[in-house]
Amino acid sequence: MTLESPAALEFLLSRRSRPAKTLVAPAPTREELQPLLTAAARSPDHGKLEPWRFIVVDKGAMPRLAALTEERGRALGKSPEDIAKGRSQFDLGQLAVVVIEVQKPSEKIPAIEQTYSAGAVCLALLNAALAAGWGANWLSGWVSHDRGFCAQALDLADNERVAGFVHIATEGAAPPERPRPDVHAITSWVSE
Ligand SMILES: Cc1cc2nc3c(=O)[nH]c(=O)nc-3n(C[C@H](O)[C@H](O)[C@H](O)COP(=O)(O)O)c2cc1C
Repeated sequence: MTLESPAALEFLLSRRSRPAKTLVAPAPTREELQPLLTAAARSPDHGKLEPWRFIVVDKGAMPRLAALTEERGRALGKSPEDIAKGRSQFDLGQLAVVVIEVQKPSEKIPAIEQTYSAGAVCLALLNAALAAGWGANWLSGWVSHDRGFCAQALDLADNERVAGFVHIATEGAAPPERPRPDVHAITSWVSE
């Protein structure tokens, strides 16, 4: 029988991300991060392909990623504002789990379903972190779509890409409210 969990439902009905720029130390330790990664890896995955993996970027690696963002931004002709925005997640970051989508060859499972599964892993990780009392935020930024950055900073292969940088640390400020969708407006029922 399905296990009832009103607390889990209440959490899902009230959860909010904590903007990465408001996160402060401490970040989770390796031991504290382990159950969060375990929860994230327990995500729907058609065909059991496990089309994802994790790279944990801790505080020590943030300056290297910030400098590489600057270098790539200049090489790509980005504006100073875009470069500053791109590197800010590393300038300010305490710890980020980079969820990597790993496309697996399959005759049965379409590539897009593997992409959806990687997105599900990002949300599961975000929610596990929030449920454990951490502040957390799922970011991308232009670097996550830049092959040069992905290869140099994260050593990604051609069949891999960044699904998200999930920043996890301690909440430093109350998170802002934001409007939520009108669920009635986006839902239709088909009954016959
Ligand atoms: C794939 C993806 C990438 C995102 N990238 C960014 C980003 O780079 N910068 C940003 O401010 N928010 C980004 N967001 C939005 C935040 O993660 C988040 O939706 C927002 O802070 C509100 O979160 P909440 O609905 O959990 O409260 C991204 C969201 C998704 C799904």
